[in-house]
Amino acid sequence: MKKKIFSGVQPTGNLHLGNYLGAIKNFVELNNDSENECVFCVVDLHAITVAQDPKQLKNNIYETVATFIASGIDPQKSIIFNQSKVSAHSEAAWILSCVARMGWLNRMTQFKEKAGKDKEKASIGLYSYPVLMAADILLYDATHVPVGDDQKQHLELCRDIAQKFNNDFKVDNFFISPEPLIQKEFSRIMSLKDGTKKMSKSELSDLSRINLTDEKDQIINKIKKAKTDPLPLPSNIDELNKRPEAKNLIGIYSSLTESTLEKTVEKFSEKNFSDFKENLSQVLVEKIVPISSEIKKLLGEKKYLDEVLADGCKKAETFSSKKIKKIHEIVGF
Ligand code: AMP
Ligand code: TRP
Repeated sequence: MKKKIFSGVQPTGNLHLGNYLGAIKNFVELNNDSENECVFCVVDLHAITVAQDPKQLKNNIYETVATFIASGIDPQKSIIFNQSKVSAHSEAAWILSCVARMGWLNRMTQFKEKAGKDKEKASIGLYSYPVLMAADILLYDATHVPVGDDQKQHLELCRDIAQKFNNDFKVDNFFISPEPLIQKEFSRIMSLKDGTKKMSKSELSDLSRINLTDEKDQIINKIKKAKTDPLPLPSNIDELNKRPEAKNLIGIYSSLTESTLEKTVEKFSEKNFSDFKENLSQVLVEKIVPISSEIKKLLGEKKYLDEVLADGCKKAETFSSKKIKKIHEIVGF
């Protein structure tokens, strides 16, 4: 069956190994299957739910497009565009915010994490963020949404919004409830400094993550300094599950080599971390350095990146303008 794929990445800088293994690597595989129709969006409207420096935001948009292409997404095959330039996204988000319920949004754990202790000071955009995400997906009749594990709850909300809209307006199957596509083997990449915290763009210490723009020496250094425990590597999965740092590094290795946790545990059973880290650095350098060089090359070709976005926006506009027109009719505008 033909799959319609939609996914988005925020242009908030420091794209890292978690973004790559959790999401972008999957985008590339989906892009390579000619059966699929893929749309990959730079979600700049989502980015401004927390304060952004305008100049930096602009650079980050270019960097995100460059990362998509450098990782292997072909703009001839997939639509790549930025959300703010296709007005149907903002419009649909408003309409869907009148369908979504406060009680549903109050359960979103990402909001609770991002807003922190002082919820009163969070922007309204940060709160309604998942409604905009639902608009993104539903405008394109996406059947499948490749995301990292942390976005699962937002996708469930998207399905709830789709169903409620269809029920409220008695339009069966108008919005399609999308399926999440989440990496099976190892879906959440953790910080190199703390195996219980997600690898994140906003973590202050650069040593906590491998950036997709890192060079060979930086990667080797970060893996050398990555936190471990004093024991040799575990010999079975039960033991691995009790050791977060070991589990993260073994998981990264498995994901990069398309292997399973079991096989990697078996391969490095009882070995020292220093031996394992050398192997891990090598596979990381092989995978990330070509992407990093290509990103830098593409960032010198802004005219080309502008063309990719302009072309993608045109295609996205064609599709989403038809859908928003139908939404208007259904709602009674
Ligand atoms: P964001 O940078 O928040 O827009 O995330 C872009 C994509 O990367 C989303 O699909 C996230 O779920 C995914 N992602 C972000 N951080 C991680 C991580 N540490 N491990 C796995 N996936 C991640
Ligand atoms: N919320 C997603 C994230 O933080 C980004 C995103 C926005 C997205 N719109 C989307 C992902 C639509 C998938 C589909 O990672």
